[in-house]
Amino acid sequence: MAEKEKLEVLLKVKEKYEPPKEVVDRAWVKDYESLYKESVQDREGFWAKVAEELEWFKKWDKVLEWNYPYAKWFLGAKTNITYNCLDRHVKSGKRNKVAYIFVDEDNNERKITYGELLELVSRLANGLKSLGVKKGDRVSIYMPTTIEGVASMLACARIGAIHSVVFAGFSEGALRTRIEDAKAKVVITSSYTKRRGKRVDLLPTVENAIDGLEFVEKVVVWDRDGDTLSGDSSKFVEFYELVNSSSPECEPEEMDAEDPLFILYTSGTTGKPKGVLHTTGGYMVQTYFTSKVVFDLHEDDIYWCSADIGWITGHSYIVYGILANGVTSVITEGAPDYPNPGRWWSYIEKYRVNVFYTAPTAIRLFMKYGEEWPAKYDLSSLRILGSVGEPINPEAWHWYYKHIGGQRCVIVDTWWQTETGAHMITTVPSYPAKPGKAGKPMFSVEVDVVDKDGNRLPPDTVGFLVVKTPWPSMLRTCWGEPERYEKYWNTIQGVYFAGDLASYDEEGYVMILGRADDVINVAGHRIGTMEVESALVDHPAVAEAAVIGKPHEVKGESIKAFVILKKGHEPSENLIEELKLHVRKVLGPVAVPDEIEFIDKLPKTRSGKIMRRILKAQELGLEVGDVSTLED
Ligand code: WTA
Repeated sequence: MAEKEKLEVLLKVKEKYEPPKEVVDRAWVKDYESLYKESVQDREGFWAKVAEELEWFKKWDKVLEWNYPYAKWFLGAKTNITYNCLDRHVKSGKRNKVAYIFVDEDNNERKITYGELLELVSRLANGLKSLGVKKGDRVSIYMPTTIEGVASMLACARIGAIHSVVFAGFSEGALRTRIEDAKAKVVITSSYTKRRGKRVDLLPTVENAIDGLEFVEKVVVWDRDGDTLSGDSSKFVEFYELVNSSSPECEPEEMDAEDPLFILYTSGTTGKPKGVLHTTGGYMVQTYFTSKVVFDLHEDDIYWCSADIGWITGHSYIVYGILANGVTSVITEGAPDYPNPGRWWSYIEKYRVNVFYTAPTAIRLFMKYGEEWPAKYDLSSLRILGSVGEPINPEAWHWYYKHIGGQRCVIVDTWWQTETGAHMITTVPSYPAKPGKAGKPMFSVEVDVVDKDGNRLPPDTVGFLVVKTPWPSMLRTCWGEPERYEKYWNTIQGVYFAGDLASYDEEGYVMILGRADDVINVAGHRIGTMEVESALVDHPAVAEAAVIGKPHEVKGESIKAFVILKKGHEPSENLIEELKLHVRKVLGPVAVPDEIEFIDKLPKTRSGKIMRRILKAQELGLEVGDVSTLED
C-alpha cells in the first residue's frame, strides 16, 4: 500500500478494545476522565499529592515555578532518588524481596534483592568517592543491561554525580563525543557484553574513545572473566575490587529537587547529539507515578521491560520509576531471538511475568518468526502489555494482543521521549484502547495538534504534536547548549514542540505518525540524519552525503544514504561496504545505512541546506510538494 493510503486507513481506525473486568477492578486509576480533569484544574495540587507518596528529607516550599521556557518543580525540597528506590523498601520490610532477576543469553540467572542492591550500590558509591568523584561530577557509563550496569547508575545518583549512560551498542566515535561533551571524570565499563553468542569487547572501545582525554581520570572496569585487566595502566580499576574494598554503608547525598540527576544524549537535527538533562525531584515523581498507574504495578507483580539501560526507557522504566515502586523486574542481556525466537516467551513463562513492556520493532520481528513460537509457552500470567519507541501499526498491535496477550491483556501504547522523561500520552488500563492510537494525555499533561503557526487543527487532521504546559519530568536544559533547549519552546511560540506528527480523534485519542524533523527511528533507536551524514563525510572518499529514513517492515524505518564522491573515487560495491563499515566504526551498528546510492548532485535550498524531503519523496514515489526554495 502506498504511504498515503496507509495513512488514510490509519486515520479511520475506529476499533476499540475494552479492558477485562479483572484488570479494571484492581487498577489504580478507575476513572481517567474525572482524575484528568482534576489534574488539569489543579496541576500543582495533583503532583504534590503524588509526591507525598515518596520520601523527602525536606518537603518543598513551592510545587512549580514556571518561568517560560524554564521550569522548576518541588522547589526547596531535598531527597535522593536512590533513597526512594532502595532504602525506602529495605526499611519497610522488603529487604529480601528480589529487585532484579538478570538472565543472560545462556540462561544464566542471577537474582538480587533490594537489600543486596542497596549494599552493592552503597559500596560502589563509596568506591567512586574514593576515586575522587564528587556531587556534580560527570560519570559516563558504557555498560550492558546487567545488575552492574543498573548499580553503576544508582551509585552515581547516590552521591550526586551526574551519570551519562552511553548505549553499549554505540562505537568509539559516538562514545568519545559523549564522554568529551560531558567532560566525564570517570568512565564505568565492562570488559565485554554478549550478543548472539558472541563476545563483543567493550573495553578496547573505551580505551580508544578516551585516548588523549586528560580529564578522564579513572576507568572502572567490570572484568567479567577476570582475564582482561593487565594492571599496567594506573587509570583502570576493577569494578568488584572497588566494590569489595569499599564500605557497605553510604549515606545518600541530600539532593535538591532541581539538582541534576543525569544527562542522556539523544539525536537531534544537527550532527551533534544533545545532552538532555534531567533533574532529581520532578523526574522521580513522574517516573514513579507513571510506572504505577500505566503498568498498574502492585506489590506482587513481576515486571519486565526489554529495553536497554542505554536509552531513556531503560532509565525511567527499568531503573528509577520501577524501583521506586518496589516491584520485581526481569532484565536481560543479548538478543531477543537468540538462541531461538522462543527466548523471551520462555522467560515470561518461567518468571510468571505480569507486565511486559517492549517496542513494536520487536513485535514485528516475532511476527516474522510466526505465532508458533509464543504458542509453545504458557503466557497466562500476563495482564498488561506495553509498547514504546515508535508508532505501533495496527497489524502488530493485533498480533501482540492475540498471540502474546491471549486476547485478555490490556495494551498500553506509551508515547514519550528522552526529553519528556516519562509517559506523556498513553492509555491507562481502565479505559478502552484503540489499535494504532497511543491514547489520551497523562494526568495534568495538556497536548495539542497544531499547524506551523500554532493553530489548533480539527480532529483527524495531521499536524505537529505540542505540549502546552510544563510537567515534572521535563528536560531542564541541553547540557552546555541552552539555545537548543529553548528551541523546543520557541519553534512554535509558547508550546513544547515534540518533533512528531500526530492527529487526534473526536474522543481525544491521539495517534502518533512519526517524526516531523530530520530524525529517523530505526528499530526504536533515534538516529539523526546529520549524525550519519557526518560519519559518511568523515570518510576520505566522500564529498557530500544526505540521509533519509525509508519505511521498513520490521525496523519501522531503515536508513538510505545518498553519497557524492570526491574526485578520483569511483562508485563500487566495495566502496559501499567500506562506507558501511566506516559508519559502523564511528557510530555503531544501529546507524549503518541499509542502502547507499552514489549520485552527482543533491537537492538543496538556495541557502545550501539539503532538502532531504525531496530525496525521500522521490525514493518513495510521493508528491514532492513545495519546491519553491529549491536552488536547482
Ligand atoms: C517515538 C523513546 C509513536 C516518537 C521513549 C518520539 C513513539 C521518539 C512512541 C522519542 C509511541 C516514542 N508511539 N511514536 N508510543 N514512543 N515514539 O527519545 O517519534 O528514544 O518523538 O524516547 O520516539 O524517542 P526517544
